[in-house]
Amino acid sequence: MTQRERVAYERIRDWLSSRCGIHYPEHKRDLLLQRLTRVQRAFTYSDLDELAHNLVANPVNEVELAVISAASTNHTYFFRESEILGRFRDDILPNLVNRDEIRIWSAACSTGDEVFTIAMMIAEALGESALKRTTILGTDISAPVIERAETGVFAERQIQQVPAHIRQKYLTPAGLGQYAVSDRIRECCTFRRMNLKSYPYPFKKPFQIVFCRNVLYYFDRADQIATLDAIHDVTEAGGWLVTSVTESIRDLPSPWQHVANGVYRKRTS
Ligand SMILES: C[S@@+](CC[C@H](N)C(=O)[O-])C[C@H]1O[C@@H](n2cnc3c(N)ncnc32)[C@H](O)[C@@H]1O
Repeated sequence: MTQRERVAYERIRDWLSSRCGIHYPEHKRDLLLQRLTRVQRAFTYSDLDELAHNLVANPVNEVELAVISAASTNHTYFFRESEILGRFRDDILPNLVNRDEIRIWSAACSTGDEVFTIAMMIAEALGESALKRTTILGTDISAPVIERAETGVFAERQIQQVPAHIRQKYLTPAGLGQYAVSDRIRECCTFRRMNLKSYPYPFKKPFQIVFCRNVLYYFDRADQIATLDAIHDVTEAGGWLVTSVTESIRDLPSPWQHVANGVYRKRTS
């Protein structure tokens, strides 16, 4: 790498960290370089320096979106992490049986697999009629994944973990190894592009449950703490935060009370 390329790389890496909270440590330099080179070629820029210029010095919105989506890892699938989902079904959902409105946020939802999984689990646990009083919002910083989520169509590999009886009810073949989520599941799910680093969050009504899985580990410690605080602010008293089993937020100073592995609760008073 030339000195000029190194400087450009570092400008882009720092921009990703300060603007999006996406933190690339030194040992992931080759991965980020590979991803940035793809964006540079797509925009026919001569080198990384030109890309950095159109991102940092003279920002072009399309370039910003392309870099964000190239740098973020969107891996996700239906019914990911059965241990956590089991706690959601058995320990959290029963508390919402009598609520007139169920409001859930999947922060960093990628292509929406988590959002539709939650809707299917609600239909199974509380009955399909519960979907009528349920709103599940999925947000992500990357525009292409939000567009894909809105289609409600998924490849076979994304739905492999869906139990057979649930698959039969809510997924129908849509040609060429693709499956479409049924309308009754989709109707309670909405998707928006949103940067988790834009505090405070713009919601008028609080959520009872927020899923924030497999994203915090891209953030540095300060952003993790700020994000946990901001989610806390938009969760109702006594509401829940669900993280991934592999992400421990217990070592971070945060107002969340630890309930079980991957499950946290906001104090009631
Ligand atoms: C690995 S996926 C996790 C998807 C899903 N929550 C799950 O656990 O399967 C991480 C997602 O976080 C999104 N992301 C990264 N930084 C973000 C930010 N600052 N704001 C919102 N979403 C972000 C990425 O675009 C990506 O889709």
